[in-house]
Amino acid sequence: MSAELGDLASAVRGRLGRVHEHHAVLGSTNDRALEWLRDAAPDGAVVTADAQTEGRGRRGRRWESPPGSNLYVSVIVRPSQVREDFSALALVVGLALAEAIGAPQIRLKWPNDLLIGDRKVAGVLCESRFSADAAAVVVGFGINVGQETFDETLADRATSLWAEGLEHERRGLLVDILANLEAQLDRFFAAGFGPLKDAYLARSIVGDRVTATRGGLAIEGVASEVDDSGALWIDTDDAGRVRITAGDVERLRSA
Ligand code: BTN
Repeated sequence: MSAELGDLASAVRGRLGRVHEHHAVLGSTNDRALEWLRDAAPDGAVVTADAQTEGRGRRGRRWESPPGSNLYVSVIVRPSQVREDFSALALVVGLALAEAIGAPQIRLKWPNDLLIGDRKVAGVLCESRFSADAAAVVVGFGINVGQETFDETLADRATSLWAEGLEHERRGLLVDILANLEAQLDRFFAAGFGPLKDAYLARSIVGDRVTATRGGLAIEGVASEVDDSGALWIDTDDAGRVRITAGDVERLRSA
């Protein structure tokens, strides 16, 4: 498995992954990429690992990262300009992954979880660093590709492509993802989230009944829109339309 991902640079079609570091085991590919960023890593450099011991998810959660069959990837992105709608970048990454995997049953739970049914198959963690004249982002993603079993704490919330009957070879999948991610990032940095919004909405939870938490308060209603800045709008039952820019959203069973 290790050799297969170790040889990524010769297989990629664009600039993402031309410079590449592969590790059998790392704490976290995002941590390694952030370190490499400080050490002048070029735009498009990629870190992969076969396993992570300290895999990180959004909001301080842990990302289970067993060896051998999944993808743990961090991409260093150095955009030429910082956009006002920079926070929509995470949505663009989720969209790029879903498109490259190609399965129409994958849905994007705002902001960027990839679900099959009610179970999560992939997650995205973007971590930005700003200086006076530049921005850089580590785009991290984990995809459960071939994992066959999950421990009891995850079994009803997580799944893998393999478990859903979607067989993918890890390196080929990653090559396709990097090509699509590059194309979508270039579009986003040139013209913003607006032109990508319809593709995002077509795979999103908009239309579903959801709960979100804002300022400690639970908000329940129908996810009605994602705007051009990437914020989610919820039509609540009793408090009108509410705009959500950060946090977690849970899908309820029926709209
Ligand atoms: C989430 O859904 O909460 C985000 C999960 C992101 C996990 C990936 S695995 C590769 C990269 N390295 C990390 O430590 N985290 C991200």
